[in-house]
Amino acid sequence: MTGTGAPARRVSRRGLLTGGAMAAGGALAGAGTLAAVRPQGVRPDNPVPVAQVGSAVEPFHGARQSGVTTDPQAHAAFVAFTLRPGTDRAALGRMLRLLSDDAARLTQGRPALADTEPELSVLPARLTVTFGFGPGLYAAAGLDERRPASVAELPAFGIDRLQPRWSGGDLLLQICADDPLTVAHTQRVLVKDSRPFAVVRWVQQGFRRAAGAEPGRTQRNLFGQLDGTANPKPGAPADTAVWVTDGPDWLRDSTTLVVRRISMNLETWDLLGRSDRELAVGRRLDTGAPLTGRTEHDEPDFAALGPDGLTVIPDFSHLTRARVTDDRQKILRRPYNYDGVPTPEGNADSGLVFASYQADIARQFLPVQRRLAERDLLNEWTTPIGSAVFAVPPGCPEGGWIGRQLLG
Ligand code: HEM
Repeated sequence: MTGTGAPARRVSRRGLLTGGAMAAGGALAGAGTLAAVRPQGVRPDNPVPVAQVGSAVEPFHGARQSGVTTDPQAHAAFVAFTLRPGTDRAALGRMLRLLSDDAARLTQGRPALADTEPELSVLPARLTVTFGFGPGLYAAAGLDERRPASVAELPAFGIDRLQPRWSGGDLLLQICADDPLTVAHTQRVLVKDSRPFAVVRWVQQGFRRAAGAEPGRTQRNLFGQLDGTANPKPGAPADTAVWVTDGPDWLRDSTTLVVRRISMNLETWDLLGRSDRELAVGRRLDTGAPLTGRTEHDEPDFAALGPDGLTVIPDFSHLTRARVTDDRQKILRRPYNYDGVPTPEGNADSGLVFASYQADIARQFLPVQRRLAERDLLNEWTTPIGSAVFAVPPGCPEGGWIGRQLLG
C-alpha cells in the first residue's frame, strides 16, 4: 500500500503534539484515507487567454527591481555565480552594465545585443531578471562597508544538511517567466555574457502552476498544500516589510533575498494520514483554511480548544511557529517547486526553492527560521540542503544599470 513495505500505523494527536512522531522516525498513518478525499472541483472564472501569455511584459526599469512583488511567474531559474579572481569594482561595473542591457532588452521582448537566437526573445511571457549581490561581491568591489549588515551567511541551524553545490554565491540572477523556453534562453544569454567575469556556481530551476491555470489563487507545493496564503498583501504597511525606504541611494528601494533549497520527503509524507498532514501545518489541505476556520483567509484562532482539551491548531504546527502578526515584520515568500529525477527505486527528489524577500534578514527572516528550526512539525518531512543570501539593489532608470548606486 505504501510502496515501502512499512506497516501503516496511526499517529495519535498527542503523539504529534509532543513530537512523538518525530522520535519514532516518521509518522505513518492510514494512507488509504487519502483516496476517499477528493479536492473540490475548482474552475477558474477568468483564465488568461493563452495568446496573451507569451506577449505579456513586465517593466524592467524603475526605482525598484521587478521580480520581487511581481505576481510570481510559472517558471524560474535562480542562477548563482562566483566572481573570477580579477573581477574588481571596475570589472563589476562592466559586467552589470552588460547584464542590465541584456535584461532590459529581453524583458521587453527584444533580442539582446549579439543574441544568437533572436527568435527566442520575442515572447517575454512576463520575463523578469532580478539581480542579487552576495557578500562576496561587496568584498570584491572593496565596498564591504556598504553591505547591508544582515546580508551575511546565515547561522547554522540544527535542521540544516547544507550542500556546497546549492549554497552561497557572489551574484544571483533570478530569472522568472511564464514560459520555460524564455527562461532557458535568458539564462543562456546572461551566462554567456558573464563568462569573462564569473563562473556559474549553481542553478536551481523551479515551477508553479502554468500561467492561466488557476488565476488569482494561491499556488500549491508538492505536499499539495496551498503555499503563500499569509504573505503580506501589496501596499502599506507590507511595503515597508519588503523594501528599504530610507538610507543612502544604494540602499533605498533595495531589499534582501534568502534562497533555501529545502528537500521534501514525499516518501514519508505519503505515509501520513490526511488529518495528520493538516495538523502538521495547521491548515486544511483542500481550502487552505486554518483548522479553526472555514475559508483560506480566515484568521487562525490559536487559543481554540478541541474536545480533547488540546489546541485545535497544534502548538508546534508550522502555522503557529511561523506566525508573524505585525505586517511590518512579515517576509514575502516567493517559492518555486522543484522536482528532480527520482532514484531508480522511485524515490522523489522534490522540494522547494524557498525564496523570501524582506527589508532586513536579521530582523524578519531569522526569528522565524530560528523558531522553525527549534520546533516545527513540518521538520520531520523537510530538510534544508542549500542556503544563500543576497542584497537586491535598487532598480535603474532607462539607460542606467543595476548596481550603479553602489559601484558607479
Ligand atoms: C519545504 C519547506 C516549507 C513548506 C512546505 C512550507 C509550507 C507552508 C505552508 C503550507 C504554509 C501555510 C500557508 C501559507 O501561509 O503560505 C506556510 C506558512 C508560512 N511559512 Fe512555510 N513552508 C516551508 C518553509 C518555510 C521556511 C523555511 C520559512 C521561513 C523561515 C517559512 C515561513 C512561513 C511563514 C512566515 C508562513 C506564514 C505564517 C503565518 O500564517 O503568519 N516556511 N508554509
